[in-house]
Amino acid sequence: MSAQLPSRDEEILGRPAVDDLEAILTTANTDVDEVIHAVRDNADVIFTWDYEKGARPALDKLYEKAKGSQWNGQTDLDWSIDVDQQQFAEMMADMQQMEFEARGVDFTGTPFEKWTRTEWVELAHEVQNWSLSQFMHGEQGALLCTAKIVETVPWIDAKYYAATQVMDEARHVEVFAQYLDTKLDGHYPINTHLKLLLDDIIDDSRWDMTYLGMQIMVEGLALAAFGMALQTTPDPLLKRLLRYVMSDEARHVAFGVLSLQEFYAGLTDAELLERQEFAFEAAVRMRDRFLQQEVWERMGIDVRKALKLFDVPAEVKNEDPFQQLLFSKIVPNCKKLGLLDANDGWLRKRFDVLGVTQFEDWVDTGEEYLEMDAVAQDRAAEGAA
Ligand SMILES: [Fe+2]
Ligand SMILES: [Fe+2]
Repeated sequence: MSAQLPSRDEEILGRPAVDDLEAILTTANTDVDEVIHAVRDNADVIFTWDYEKGARPALDKLYEKAKGSQWNGQTDLDWSIDVDQQQFAEMMADMQQMEFEARGVDFTGTPFEKWTRTEWVELAHEVQNWSLSQFMHGEQGALLCTAKIVETVPWIDAKYYAATQVMDEARHVEVFAQYLDTKLDGHYPINTHLKLLLDDIIDDSRWDMTYLGMQIMVEGLALAAFGMALQTTPDPLLKRLLRYVMSDEARHVAFGVLSLQEFYAGLTDAELLERQEFAFEAAVRMRDRFLQQEVWERMGIDVRKALKLFDVPAEVKNEDPFQQLLFSKIVPNCKKLGLLDANDGWLRKRFDVLGVTQFEDWVDTGEEYLEMDAVAQDRAAEGAA
């Protein structure tokens, strides 16, 4: 358990301590049947009369790259491929069992005592449905946030680039929705912590906060999460879908890094502290989301007991290497932006509590998009064949 944190964390997070499990669990999505969710956008819409294209060369380069790397979710993916979700769930459930055996987990006296392979396979099904559903909802968040950036950012090169990202995100929502609808056997409403975060990002009046919340934090995490999903899925359709989405996402994170680097260089310490607090809040919301509380509810298992089984201590300290790895893109990017160490390392200390600071010197995402362009690589290979 971490040392007592200053009360400021309570103001940021709306709960007494970062690891307060009961407070985390009292946040629930109370209207799971809603079709429309309205959030007030408090930002000014900015015209610019400075039309000089390429005034920011790195953004201009990104824009030109994006125009050439567009793909079509209907024709570039083979939707005729049959997906065997049952086989995947069995594989995941068996891997889980091997891990439990290796750790010598004893189910006696737990809700899992009477579980057979059937329930474990069902759980793996639900986890996949939940994960893909959250990917889809997060993509819609990116679509709306980036449309907001088109309106609010004052630079023409950034408006141009953001317009290509809006198209990318529409395609991402489209392909994840289609995959869920036609290849999987169920879906979930948005996770309550993800929703809180997306609402906060949309609500903020400052244009750079949209970038920080979406391009740096949400998309930084998505890039790592998609990479892990790509490693585990045996499905060739989902593999190609994820490779293509990731090649777009790498550009999106680069867009955030390249834009904020310039803007943050001119901020005061007090202004930087507000950005550090926002990055911390976003990191905590995203970590809370991975408790997957909706899955446990659907399986009829008390989430507290489930967490015990998965060896997560009551204070939910992040000691899971898989969950830590989700922050492997975020931390180096925050460092590159100067957020980690500003104000005597305010954010570094928070990231220490979350157990993710070890990624600070991993590659940042300013240029990585050039290597990750799977669309260009496939086209070159098809052209050569
Ligand atoms: Fe996306
Ligand atoms: Fe994105």
